[in-house]
Amino acid sequence: MRGTISISSTRILAPSGNERATTRARRQPAERPSTGALSTRRASPRDIPWIESWAASLGLPAVVGAGTLSFVLLEDGQRVGYMAARDQMVDTPLGSEPVRWIVSAFLVPRARGRGLLMRFGALLSQQHHRQGKVGARISTANTRMLKLMRVGGWTKIRSSRQWVDFVLDLRAPFGAAPSRRGG
Ligand SMILES: CC(C)(COP(=O)(O)OP(=O)(O)OC[C@H]1O[C@@H](n2cnc3c(N)ncnc32)[C@H](O)[C@@H]1OP(=O)(O)O)[C@@H](O)C(=O)NCCC(=O)NCCS
Repeated sequence: MRGTISISSTRILAPSGNERATTRARRQPAERPSTGALSTRRASPRDIPWIESWAASLGLPAVVGAGTLSFVLLEDGQRVGYMAARDQMVDTPLGSEPVRWIVSAFLVPRARGRGLLMRFGALLSQQHHRQGKVGARISTANTRMLKLMRVGGWTKIRSSRQWVDFVLDLRAPFGAAPSRRGG
């Protein structure tokens, strides 16, 4: 499935055939791969071609640069995911508030279906954003992400037919809920 965590200037996407195939494959527990050693680091110039290529194929923004915090997720030392965020003021039910807004996020296909996005988020929260608000815009077509937001306790602050905006108010580092699939 394609979808996006995005600011309003980015595209909202529809599911792709590849993603549906990935979903079918990962629902067969016997084929579920285990998870290797996870770590994160700031994205560097040498990551840009990898980020741009995956972001383009998924129709997501590849935001690496001034004003954006960009990170890669490594599994056994190999890049498997990307997440970028910006600090900005966001209108919430409590007024205009500073929010670390996630503008792009993805896992490569082999890393999906194992709860790694939330574990990526948990690592980044422990290392870089232990408290405060985080937010994201999710496509209404991205049922997988919408489920993850529900499981993670994110609060819906506004929506349209195409997207839903969520915030999460962290009082302590974000903790990834245990995956049903044991990731
Ligand atoms: C969307 C994406 C980031 C999801 O990451 P992921 O870590 O692989 O997510 P998972 O598939 O492990 O988790 C979602 C699924 O696990 C379930 N899940 C995970 N943890 C759970 C928990 N603790 N309790 C209940 N359900 C849980 C969700 O309900 C959902 O189930 P599904 O099989 O019906 O889809 C990834 O698929 C991706 O990169 N897709 C392409 C790019 C993209 O969409 N990026 C934009 C993100 S907004």
